[in-house]
Amino acid sequence: MSVTKVREVWKSRLGLIMAMAGNAIGLGNFLRFPVQAAANGGGAFMIPYFIAFLVVGIPMMWVEWSVGRFGGKHGHGTTPGIMYRLWKHPAAKYIGVLGIAAPVAFALYYSYVQSWTLAYSFFSLTGQYFGITTQEEMGTFLSSFQGITESSYFSGLGTAYIFFVINLGIVFWVLSRGVVRGIETLAKFAMPMLLVFAIILVARVFTLGTPDPAFPDRSVMAGFAWIWNPDISRLSEASVWLAAAGQIFFSLGIGIGSMQCYASYVRARQDVALTGLTTSMSNGFAEVVLGSSIAIPVAVAFFGVTATEAIATGGSYDLGFQSMPLIFQQLPFGQFIGTLWFGLLFFAGITSTVALTQPPMAFLQDEMGWSRKKAALLVISVLFIFGNFIAFHIQHGVIDEFDFWIGTVGLVVFSFLEVIIFAWIFGMDKAWDEITEGAAIRIPRIFYYMIKYVTPVSLAILLVVWTYQAGFDLLLLRNADPVDLPYLLLTRGIIVALILVGIFQVRRVSKNWD
Ligand code: ALA
Repeated sequence: MSVTKVREVWKSRLGLIMAMAGNAIGLGNFLRFPVQAAANGGGAFMIPYFIAFLVVGIPMMWVEWSVGRFGGKHGHGTTPGIMYRLWKHPAAKYIGVLGIAAPVAFALYYSYVQSWTLAYSFFSLTGQYFGITTQEEMGTFLSSFQGITESSYFSGLGTAYIFFVINLGIVFWVLSRGVVRGIETLAKFAMPMLLVFAIILVARVFTLGTPDPAFPDRSVMAGFAWIWNPDISRLSEASVWLAAAGQIFFSLGIGIGSMQCYASYVRARQDVALTGLTTSMSNGFAEVVLGSSIAIPVAVAFFGVTATEAIATGGSYDLGFQSMPLIFQQLPFGQFIGTLWFGLLFFAGITSTVALTQPPMAFLQDEMGWSRKKAALLVISVLFIFGNFIAFHIQHGVIDEFDFWIGTVGLVVFSFLEVIIFAWIFGMDKAWDEITEGAAIRIPRIFYYMIKYVTPVSLAILLVVWTYQAGFDLLLLRNADPVDLPYLLLTRGIIVALILVGIFQVRRVSKNWD
C-alpha cells in the first residue's frame, strides 16, 4: 500500500554519518568494551577483537548498509520487506521479523539502563552521591536507586521511575519528529558533544599520574599497561574469542535491524561503501581509543589492578555506576567531571536507543501507513509497559536474560541468516553490485570472498561453539535460582510474544507485496 509513499531521506551526508555513528556508538563502547577487554586477557583480547572486526564487523556493516539502501529503493525500511525483496519466499519475510522484534526487545532493557545515565548526570551535577566513600556504599546507592535495596538514599523506585519516564519522553519527541528533524538533528548535536566530553575526560585521565604516592603501583600508566599487555595464554580459550566477537556485534550494532533501517533512508545511488566504513571506524575509534582510556585506567589509578579486576568481572555497570562516582569525589571539579562522564554515556546511549526504536517506527509507517506520531506513541507505550516489568523485577536477572538472547545470540543468528540470504540466495554477484553501486571508494575484491565464504562460516562456527559451550545450560536454565525462574521465563515469553506479533502483522501486510 505504502510502497509508493515518499519516504524521508537523510538531509546531509554529515547528518547521515553522525546518525549512523550515533546508532553504533553507545553504552557498549564506554561500559561494555573496557570491562570485556579487562576480563578477557587485556591486550590479548584485542587480537580476536580485530580479527572479528575485519572478518565479520566490516563485511556485515557493508552488507547491512547495502541491504538497507536496497530496501529503501523498494519502499521498505525493515527487514521483513527487504528480505522478501531479496528472496521471494515466505520464509524470508518471517526471518525478517527478527529485524523488528529484536530491536524492540533490545530497546526495552537498553533504554532503561540508558535512563540511569540521565539520572546519574543529574546526581553528579547536584553532588547527590558526594560523601559516599566506599565501593559497598556506592553499590547500596545504586541498588537503592534501582529499587532493590532499602536505604535512606531513595525511597523505593520512585526516582529511577521518574528518569525512566523523562527518558522515554525524550525518545518519543525525537521519534515523532522523524528521521531528519528528529534523529539527524539529535545526532548532529549529541555526537560532537560526546566527542568533546570524551576528549576532556581522556585528557583528565592522562594527567592523573599516580594520585596517591603511598601506592606507587596505582597509576594511570599501570592501568594502560594492564589493559594493553597481552596475556597470550588466554588466546587458547574459546570464551575469549566468543567475547571478542560478541563485543563487535553489540558495539557496531549489527544483526539487529537498525543499521538496515537507517540505511533505507539513504538516496538510491548514494555511496554506502565509504560511509559504511566510516561508521565502523568511528565506532572503533570511540571504543578502542576513547572507551579504553577512561574507566579502566582511572579505576586502576585509584583502586589498583586487583580491585579493578574484581570490579570488572562484577559486570559492565559496576565500573561505570559504582566506581567512577567514588573517583569523581577525589578530583577537583568532581561534580563537573562526573556530569561529563554520565553526560557522555547519556549521549552515547540515547542515540542508540533511538536507533533501536526506529525499525518498529519504519514498519508501522512504511507497511501499515501509520502517521509518525501514532507510530511513536505505540512504540513508546510498548517500551513503557515492558520497561515496568524490567524496572520492578531487575533483581531477578531479567536484564541479563534479555541481553543474552537479544544482545548476544540474536545478533549472530540474524547476521548469519541475513548474509546467507544476501550472498547466497540473492547471489553474491548481485550483492557485490549493490555494495559497490555509487561507491566513493574501491572496496578490495577480497571482501567479495570474505562476505561469501569467510563471514558466514565464521558466524556458523561461532553459533555452534556457543551452543556447545553454554547454550544448553542457558536454554534449559540449569543454573538459574528457582526464585528467579518465573521472571526469566516471563522474559522469554515477552521475546516470543514480540516475535509472534511480528509474524502476525507481517502476514497481514505482506498480502500485497508482489
Ligand atoms: N551499538 C550500541 C552500543 O554499543 C547498542 O551500545
